[in-house]
Amino acid sequence: MSTYPLIHHHHDLLVVGAGGAGLRASVAASSKSLSVACLSKAPPTRSHTVAAQGGINAALGNRVADDWRWHMYDTIRGSDWLGDQDAIALLCERAPEAIVELESMGMPFTRDENGHIYQRAYGGQSTDYGKGGPAYRACAVADRTGHSLLHTLYGQALRQKVKFFVEYVALDLLLDEEGICRGLLAWRLETGELHLFQAHATIIATGGFGQAYASTTASTICTGDGGGMALRAGLALQDMEFIQFHPTGLYGAGILITEGARGEGALLKNTLGERFMERYAPNSMELASRDVISRAMMQEIMAGRGAGAKKDHLLLDLTHLEPNIIDSKLPQIADIARTFGRIDIHKKPIPVLPTVHYTMGGIPTNKYGEVIKSCGARNTSAGSPSIVAPDPAQSLHDSQDLIPGLYAVGEAACASVHGANRLGCNALLELVVFGKNAGEQAAGAIKHGAAHKSLSPELLEQLLARFDELRRPRGGIRPNVIRKQLQQVMHSHAGIFRERALLEEGRKKLHELWELMRHDLHIADRSLLWNNDLLDALETDNLLRQATVAMASAAARTESRGAHFREDFPARDDAHWLKHSLGSVDDEGNVRLASRPVRLTAEEPQTGTAISFAPEERAY
Ligand code: FUM
Repeated sequence: MSTYPLIHHHHDLLVVGAGGAGLRASVAASSKSLSVACLSKAPPTRSHTVAAQGGINAALGNRVADDWRWHMYDTIRGSDWLGDQDAIALLCERAPEAIVELESMGMPFTRDENGHIYQRAYGGQSTDYGKGGPAYRACAVADRTGHSLLHTLYGQALRQKVKFFVEYVALDLLLDEEGICRGLLAWRLETGELHLFQAHATIIATGGFGQAYASTTASTICTGDGGGMALRAGLALQDMEFIQFHPTGLYGAGILITEGARGEGALLKNTLGERFMERYAPNSMELASRDVISRAMMQEIMAGRGAGAKKDHLLLDLTHLEPNIIDSKLPQIADIARTFGRIDIHKKPIPVLPTVHYTMGGIPTNKYGEVIKSCGARNTSAGSPSIVAPDPAQSLHDSQDLIPGLYAVGEAACASVHGANRLGCNALLELVVFGKNAGEQAAGAIKHGAAHKSLSPELLEQLLARFDELRRPRGGIRPNVIRKQLQQVMHSHAGIFRERALLEEGRKKLHELWELMRHDLHIADRSLLWNNDLLDALETDNLLRQATVAMASAAARTESRGAHFREDFPARDDAHWLKHSLGSVDDEGNVRLASRPVRLTAEEPQTGTAISFAPEERAY
């Protein structure tokens, strides 16, 4: 028996992660008079939501006429028809109400000349079901929208007496023998203690796994801790092959330069000064969807038209914009370019390169954030990791098959509103709409003050043993070395352009990293107090599991859709692949794949009228 004294906590509801999704869920649930605990490894106002810049979508129509159904169509088209349309209908229909809620909570939106919320254009967004001009749908707080949203929600959560547990690292879910989630085990960095949080409902809001890549706009905390816990609990993750590259990461540093810049009129140019997007998206140009622009940029570079001495990046030109637009609407990117690139964006274009920005896949949920039960990986004998091919008999047909007590929201989840490619400014929207949904849904299922079930000693022993095992000395390789290799493998083998041999080699390289993790890991620090080496190992384990599922899912999907582009299968193949991928992985790195149908029909939330958009060719 592993000997770790446990500190016990009992709450009605536990939220893991204090970014926008976790805070919105906490606020929603705590308003139902429940005891709500919110656990976070970082101080809430440093959650990654703080980095979101350009805006949050809602068809308010403050600048041009708009309709939530147009927003729905754009989101489905952006998703390359992989998004679940019932969830997308809810997202877009609820968006205006969500903005009004944020505003009444105190979010200081930028105002237009009429005093209304300022809205800017964004990629892939149009009026009249793609037939009209650009929609101005992104509600903005200059270019610090995520920062404002996070601080607003944190204030509300404090006001509602949500109990915060900060600098606690979530280790594993308490999924009992009946398959019910009872909370989780966590490690407190400041004291080194292990804490057992029991709750009637647990909401995972831990963000994406962008740190699996070498260059990313995702902060170092984005290690997909919720996805890692779900995989270790034997659950499958959905659509993990879809990784979004944001076209304009600051060259060299990878820091986000908001798409809002292009929404304000910035131009993308190659070394010849050409607006090269006219070759790839003649109608939308710089406001095509992110997958289309990122591919176009790489094609320009490969054709030798990149900028700079190495011809390895492109240019984002704002020099023609009114200085007042830059100063009032884009002050943060001016600051970032000055600080990290020594560039005055009033005078010189910004060097940019596509950079990993968002992971579309995650823990599969329905539109209420309830986690869908799906095939788990079975432990098989050690050796080279296998992929078990999708088995049609295992396809999940609906969301009836749920894990009681477990919810997921935000980038950790896959609802799936983004499908194969997310539209800019739909992420913040998803956080608040589905965060609220999940908080309310979970709260509705809880009887305040109901007794907590006692946990089996075997379950606790199993979780403690894993933690203990990771700390055991076994080799000479520090976890940060393995993490760096992992990031390089993902960048080189599961990037913007993919093909079979590259992906297969990537799988082999990941397998070598599994071997290093199992046999050669070295945790230099033996203590439990702020042990960064151990934290690194835990996070790297989460990243490696998710990267393994992502690589295997990418190798299996023999078509191109949204952000997943296969040079050997360049066309979308609805006949075979209009379905979600599901992937789980066992403790030896063997992946098991299955699939789920896409929900292609929806009802208007207010009226119940049927609404759906059949797959069509996607062009911008
Ligand atoms: O470019 C941006 O400001 C990012 C927005 C988003 O990813 O939603």
